[in-house]
This record gives sequence, structure tokens and C-alpha cells, in this order.
Amino acid sequence: MIRCIAMPVSCAPAAAAFDLLMLRRILALLRRRRPLANGGQAMPAGIVPAVQVGAPILPGEAFTPTHPRTARGGLIGREQEVQAIVQRLTEDKAHIVLYSERGIGKTSLANSVIEQLRRAGVFVARYQCEASSTFDSLMRGLVRTLPAALLTGPIRSGLFEGCEAAFPATPIRPDDVVALLGRLRLDFLICVIDEVDRIADAGTRTLLADTIKQLSDRGVPLLFMLIGVSDSLEQLLGEHPSIQRALVGVPLKLLSDADIAAIIERGAKAAGLTFPPELVQDVARMARGMPYIAHLLGLRTAQAAARRSTRDVTGRDFLAAVEQLIIETPSQVVQLFDDLTALGQDSAMCLALNTVTGCEQDGWGRIRIVDGPAEELLVGGRPMARSRYLALRDAGIVRPCDGAAGYVIIAHRGRGVILYHAFRQVVQQIGTRRSGDDDSAAGSPIAPANDCTSDAARAAEVSSRQSSRP
Ligand SMILES: Nc1ncnc2c1ncn2[C@@H]1O[C@H](COP(=O)(O)OP(=O)(O)OP(=O)(O)O)[C@@H](O)[C@H]1O
Ligand SMILES: [Mg+2]
Repeated sequence: MIRCIAMPVSCAPAAAAFDLLMLRRILALLRRRRPLANGGQAMPAGIVPAVQVGAPILPGEAFTPTHPRTARGGLIGREQEVQAIVQRLTEDKAHIVLYSERGIGKTSLANSVIEQLRRAGVFVARYQCEASSTFDSLMRGLVRTLPAALLTGPIRSGLFEGCEAAFPATPIRPDDVVALLGRLRLDFLICVIDEVDRIADAGTRTLLADTIKQLSDRGVPLLFMLIGVSDSLEQLLGEHPSIQRALVGVPLKLLSDADIAAIIERGAKAAGLTFPPELVQDVARMARGMPYIAHLLGLRTAQAAARRSTRDVTGRDFLAAVEQLIIETPSQVVQLFDDLTALGQDSAMCLALNTVTGCEQDGWGRIRIVDGPAEELLVGGRPMARSRYLALRDAGIVRPCDGAAGYVIIAHRGRGVILYHAFRQVVQQIGTRRSGDDDSAAGSPIAPANDCTSDAARAAEVSSRQSSRP
């Protein structure tokens, strides 16, 4: 802020010189303190600061593997799901349970739903569960996110956050939630509870189910949208046949390959980079519908390109990304891979991992298991020795799918092992090709593979890993 000071004429020249000096200092300070679009971090080579109109953003802003999309950041696909959920809530007045395996985009989708609801003038309270959440802490947490101005009198005295005073001091019961709207200047409220699967206390889930039943029976315009990691609605909320009619279960699907490709293309464009189409296809093949994996591969590849000060991403950047991701793989995942494949040397087991990676899965990532001839099974349409399948199951790579007999799903840690295996194969294949010629041109570094790491590379890796282990 520049001050204007009135002063006598006699001291005007000195004052003018002083003010000029001061003005220069202030302007220099202002120039120095102008906030950078990247939050003040130094820009890596090759990335133009995002202060120009339409200028590229940092790779870490374009690809976000560690956090859900905000509605403003834009979801890829999901328009239908968002519209369907908004309609079920606002028109059908149904409670919603949104579930899927980990990392498919539930919270991102919920952000978009909440934004639409708020734009339409609907009040939304929101809470994210912890393992220790109880029915009481959960309900209080929800109303704390509502503005206190919504409270109608008489208000309980004491220090409260948001609309917490609307609840009694005693432990909250379903009845108190049913009566909540009577204490607020609201005629419609939606309560979004994320990570319901984390609630350890079974009693809390039962109270939640009881509350939904009471609200529904009495036609109270207070609706819940529950979100969690689960194969089925029952697994998330417990068996409560009486509330089935009051709830709409929305099992969230994986993204299509085209949507995964769009994540890479949109992120690349925002970061001012060009990914060759073959590379985009490779990412889609590895991600198998998981947006989290697309963001992770997109980010590390874009960062590798930025380090080379180039805007044209090539197979070399993808290789650097995969090498980095191998280093970042958690030790438990590496250990599981080593145990399962005898440090990558059990080629039959590596083939079994390839089968799981490339077999057919349905829109929710479920893989059909069918008896094959003799000691074989068909895993997603591909033959696999029964013993190998059992080894994968016993190691927790795949697990039976709750509520879908005859199907398995890739378990969370299994996905890590499969990705680690795929990364090793990329490194191995490019390494092999490089020994013949230079592959730095744009293009796909991955050829469909069915073999394990070569003996030489394996031996080198085994000895280096053994020497680096504590
Ligand atoms: N439709 C989408 N378009 C683009 N990126 C997405 C989309 N959905 C999710 N993502 C990205 O995928 C990752 C996982 O998303 P999100 O956290 O919403 O999943 P989740 O199902 O809530 O995960 P969790 O089960 O761990 O709670 C994030 O990096 C997010 O940015
Ligand atoms: Mg989430």
C-alpha cells in the first residue's frame, strides 16, 4: 500500500526525494512478493511459470496421484454418475451408498456431486471417518461443518463449532438426528460421510443404518450419502435387510481406457507437454481403469521430461518414470513379489502375474474364474495352472469378490505387486532393445510381453538387492 502524505511546501524537495526512494523500495518489494502461481516453489527447467494467460502448469498440478480431484480441477468421464446421484438425492430423495475398491475416484466424484448440489442451493454437511469414529463423533463432525447462522433458538450455551449446539450434550442417538432439521433453518440437508469402511466399531454402523431407516420411514428430508471401500453395500453397512429399500447402492466402475487416455492427454496439455499417442496407450494398458495409476505414471513421466527441459515426452521419459517408480515401490510389495516369484526367477509365477495383468475383467475389475481342462483354470478367459492360481490367492494378490460368486478381484496390495512386475518388464524390454540401438525417439517402450526378466539382468538385480539389504 502506498501512503500519500500532505506536508509544508518548504520541505517539499527533500520529502519528494525521500518519497521517490520509498516508492522505489515499495515497488521492488511488491515485485519480489508477488505470489508465484506455483506456490513459490522454484520452477524446474523446461516449465514456464504459470503467470501468463493459458501458461502451462507444473506437472504436480496437472497430475495428482495423491489427492482427489476437486470439482474445479475437472473430472474425466463420470458425467452420468454425477447426474444420476444428484437426481437420486434431489428428486427421488433416496439415501446413497457409493462404494468401490480403493482409488477408483469415489471422493473425486463426491466432490463434484457436492459442488453441483451447493450450486443448486442445497446445504451439504461433510465428514471423513477415522478408525476411531463413533456415531456420536461422526454426527457432531457433520453439523460442525454447517454455518452457525442456521441454528434456530433456543441455543444451548457453551463453546460450539458450526451447528453443534443443535445436538444435546448426551451421546447422540438416531432420534436426535431425526429431530435435527427442527433445530436448523433448513428444509433439506444432505450429509456426506466418506471412508465409512474405516469405522472399526460395528455398533456405529448399526446406528447409522437405524438412523437411515428412521429418517426414511418418517420421510424426513435429511439424506445421507455414504462412501467407502467395499465390494458390496452389505459389506460396508452390515446386513440390515430392513433398510435395503431406503438406500440406493452405487458401485463405482473403473474408468474406460479412453478416459484414462484423456487423463494423460488433458494433464499433458495443461503442463504444456506432448505425449506420443503410443505412450498414452501404454499408460492406459498399465492403469487398467485405475485413475490413480494414470496420474502416477503421468506425473513421473512429465517430471522426467521437465528435467530434460523438453516439452516433447518420449519413451526415454517413460523409462525414467518407471525406474523411479521401481525405486519408490514400498519394501513390503517388493518382498511379496520376491517371495512369490523367487526374486523374479520363477518364470511360471511371473507368467501367472502376466495373465492376471492382461486377462478380461468386467467394468468393476472383477475377474471370472472358470474350471478348465485337467488341473487348469480359466482366469478371465486365460488358462492358468490351478496351483499357480492358488499361490496367487494365498499370497493375497487376488481375493474372492464379496457378493459375486465365481469372481475374484485384484487385492490392493496385489495391484502393487502386479505393477512392480510390469515396471520391471518395461525396464528389461527397453534395456534389451537399447543394447541393439538407441530408442530415444518418441514411441511406445512396451511391447506385449509374456516372459520374465532375462537371466543376466536378474542375476545382476539379485546380487545388487542382496548387497543393499540391511
Ligand atoms: N474422474 C477422474 N478424472 C481424473 N482423475 C481422477 C478421476 N477420479 C479419480 N481421479 C484421480 O484418481 C485418484 C484417486 O481418486 P480418489 O481419491 O477420488 O479415489 P477414491 O476412490 O476416493 O480413493 P480411496 O478409496 O482411497 O478413498 C486421485 O489421484 C484422483 O485425482
Ligand atoms: Mg476417497
